[in-house]
Amino acid sequence: MAKLWGGRFQKNTDKKVDDFNSSIRFDKRMYAQDIKGSMAHAEMLGKQNVIAKEDSDKIIAGLKELLAEIEAGKVSFDIDAEDIHMNIEKLLTEKISDAGKRLHTGRSRNDQVALDIRMYLMDEEEEIRKMLVHLCEVLIELAEQNTETIMPGYTHLQKAQPITFAHHLMAYFEMFMRDISRLDDCRKRTDVMPLGSGALAATTYPLDREFVAEKLGFSAVTQNSLDGVSDRDFVIELAGVLSIIMMHLSRFCEELILWSSHEFSFVEMDDAFSTGSSIMPQKKNPDVAELIRGKTGRVYGHLMGLLTTMKGLPLAYNKDMQEDKEPIFDAIDTVKLCVPVFCDMIATMKINKETMEKGAKGGFTNATDLADYLVKKGMPFREAHSVVGKMVFYCVENSRNLEDLSLDMMKEFSEIIEDDIYDAISMQTCVNERNIIGGPAKETVLAAIEEAKKRINL
Ligand code: ARG
Repeated sequence: MAKLWGGRFQKNTDKKVDDFNSSIRFDKRMYAQDIKGSMAHAEMLGKQNVIAKEDSDKIIAGLKELLAEIEAGKVSFDIDAEDIHMNIEKLLTEKISDAGKRLHTGRSRNDQVALDIRMYLMDEEEEIRKMLVHLCEVLIELAEQNTETIMPGYTHLQKAQPITFAHHLMAYFEMFMRDISRLDDCRKRTDVMPLGSGALAATTYPLDREFVAEKLGFSAVTQNSLDGVSDRDFVIELAGVLSIIMMHLSRFCEELILWSSHEFSFVEMDDAFSTGSSIMPQKKNPDVAELIRGKTGRVYGHLMGLLTTMKGLPLAYNKDMQEDKEPIFDAIDTVKLCVPVFCDMIATMKINKETMEKGAKGGFTNATDLADYLVKKGMPFREAHSVVGKMVFYCVENSRNLEDLSLDMMKEFSEIIEDDIYDAISMQTCVNERNIIGGPAKETVLAAIEEAKKRINL
């Protein structure tokens, strides 16, 4: 097939090169953005009298028809036409002949692809944002049901201090809220219109770039034509944002996998979100959580791949940049696959409240509170730390919990201990006394949840 750029060539491209060079396999997913961008460009060319108004109208009508045909599944793309941009132009020209040939006036595929990918990513950012908002809503709902579900908090994966499951869930709420804000921030830098940059040095035609930007809903136009076609920061940034989203999902999944083990038994994934073993009849595996954790690696890989692709590229456009699409598309697909399944998995899992609370009780999670009790009675903290350390040692040796010691026994360690100690070191007190902003106390978490509901509606 004759190439759109074939004039200068005496020979056809090698068949292998046609396949090698072609990106239509994966960039066809930008067909709607390509067509929308071309419509705005054509309208502007007509308005500026760069092409006849009549041709501009024909182009727009032709593109509209083509969009409907693609959407109806009536169009098959041609690998010889290389990419989505030339496929659309070719199909348009087949439809409206000469007018179609005027569409590419004052434009290069270099600024065209920059436009398409920005538009495509902005659409996807919107979708992912919605999914994250839903995830935050699920977390809030679960948290609301668990403000009294006491569980052990860990550092170094060693029991540390008691918290509630609601508090733990709301920690993830904060993480995903930051992801939303990172997504919004990244979108600001994606939301810049590059058309008019031409191949690299803009154009001699009197293009109205601002008109095109407004038509397409962009907030600004790029300010340097070289940068306009060379910039893929926004792709890398999105891959970074997606990597962080996956990292957050993966950390939570790691916890759920751990908590699903017989040793923890804090949660049990619903049957609908677990799988069995082909050999061991007793098994119920948290595959979904594992797979999300596993898929995190491929998203990180894409981020690294994109950074590496861009690191050695001289200005301006280089064909290497065609390699930006598959990684960012796959990173987007992966996040869009993981977030909804994660939401449903956590919404349906069984929470073993009693086991959680039992877990909080063992392991001296109230030792800090015992020390604080002594401090409130006048003992310096460092001294109290040492006294309680000795009590813990005694309990370890005698397989007891701190709250199981009799008052007489306690007094052996410190005379100032009275019988109000049992209430002071109960799990409920330990949690509910921590009522400063950010703490796990029931009233504090309830207030945080109310605040969260307002924040999510932003
Ligand atoms: N398919 C190309 C890409 O994705 C479009 C731009 C091609 N430009 C060029 N001068 N070969 O990057």
